[in-house]
Amino acid sequence: MPNQREKFGSRLGFILAAAGSAVGIGNLVGFPVNAAKSGGAAFLLVYAFFIVVICLPVMMAEMSLGRHTQRNPLGAYNSVSGGNPLWKIGGWLALITPFMIAVFYQVLTVWLLAYFVGAVSGNLAQMADPAFFGTFINGPSVFGYLAVLTVVIGFVLNSGVQNGIERLAKALMPTLFVMLIILTIFVLTLPNALVGVKYYLIPDLSKINPEVVSNALGQAFFSLSLGMGILITYGSYVSRKESIAGGAKMVALVDTSVAFFAGLLILPAIFVFNPATDTSELSSSSVSLVFTFLPKIFLSLQSLIGYVGASAFAATFFLLVFFAALTSQVSILQVPLSAFQDELKFSRVKSVLSLGACAILLVLACTVSFGMVTYFTEFTSYGGATKSFFDIVIDVFYDTILPLNGLIICLFAIFHWKKANLNAELAIGDDKFEGSFTQKYVNGALGTVIPLVLLLVFVNTVCIKFFGFSLTDYM
Ligand code: PHE
Repeated sequence: MPNQREKFGSRLGFILAAAGSAVGIGNLVGFPVNAAKSGGAAFLLVYAFFIVVICLPVMMAEMSLGRHTQRNPLGAYNSVSGGNPLWKIGGWLALITPFMIAVFYQVLTVWLLAYFVGAVSGNLAQMADPAFFGTFINGPSVFGYLAVLTVVIGFVLNSGVQNGIERLAKALMPTLFVMLIILTIFVLTLPNALVGVKYYLIPDLSKINPEVVSNALGQAFFSLSLGMGILITYGSYVSRKESIAGGAKMVALVDTSVAFFAGLLILPAIFVFNPATDTSELSSSSVSLVFTFLPKIFLSLQSLIGYVGASAFAATFFLLVFFAALTSQVSILQVPLSAFQDELKFSRVKSVLSLGACAILLVLACTVSFGMVTYFTEFTSYGGATKSFFDIVIDVFYDTILPLNGLIICLFAIFHWKKANLNAELAIGDDKFEGSFTQKYVNGALGTVIPLVLLLVFVNTVCIKFFGFSLTDYM
């Protein structure tokens, strides 16, 4: 049948699939690292504020646009804008961004796969050594894992929306959540954990500065999978019997809870394993923090369950995080994939292969950006620092373009697609939407406060990242 798109099987299926996209490395690695780096509770506060006040309405706008147009982002922008070239830019950005995000995400997912294999093969003790991570990411084995992962993802993508994403997400998300809570409780019983809990939960408002705000917004967008056309694409697979507002709230709640617990696990763990930690040192935290502290947490479980038990627990945990990353990665790639299928009329197999061919060189350039190849490690310099190829992808697409895409989608939904159409779409499958607080807020804020905040943060992020100053330096 023409125009009969695949649909998520049920409301739960949609929520879990969207949550499967949302919950990933962003929650389990990105959030704790950013929270450690940006003042703990101060970051948490700004982050939570952004989720509720900015991100939720943007999420609803994306899903509505997708369900209304039944297209991928490029097609969605095109069909609503009647081909207006200015809006086409929005569509292109919503296509290129997920592609580039998928490139760096692939590198991190490879590391998770390797950590799973490492734990299974009894290497937990070595992995807990602070020097292990740096040696591993620069060793030849990453290429083996990369090859395996690339093939696995190709297969998942090839099996279609229902089979691939929905089934994986349904089974694994709850297990991951339970394990996260068990681990968090364990860490909280260890000596000195309370110092970390305080750092994480008692806000010091003086720590909120433009950089914290910019990091929190980028992280919130990334974590909810916003500004990437994912939710436009997912929206296009949602049945007209579902409430978009209800689904969006559930997804945000699940995503934020996972991030919150990951923070409550990692931040106290920093103080447990290094009681002498001075909070000012944390400002230079990076991804290696999580990859070093998680094995340490698992290793310390051996006093309770022995080395084999600890390794089994670690292996299960890394496997689940790996799956969380995999569902996210599959969702990211779904966007360019749908575009290949819808716009170029490629078959699914041909789309998957074309996508892989486009991505592989970029992924390799990112993989060798950590010291293996000097050219990519010291690719360029701006904002007063030397940047690797990997850093550039993160600075440009994660920190800068995501909020910009959010800004474009707000403007597009309210001023081009028009409020009335957005409202009509949001009311489909949701009797309670008309007259609700959500409706009033979305209508009021999506064309005013939200784009204004996004614009300010976008401009300021560009200044901080690329020019080494902040607008507030001049206030
Ligand atoms: N939200 C996912 C995470 O937190 C990553 C992701 C980003 C997925 C963008 C889809 C789109 O890890």
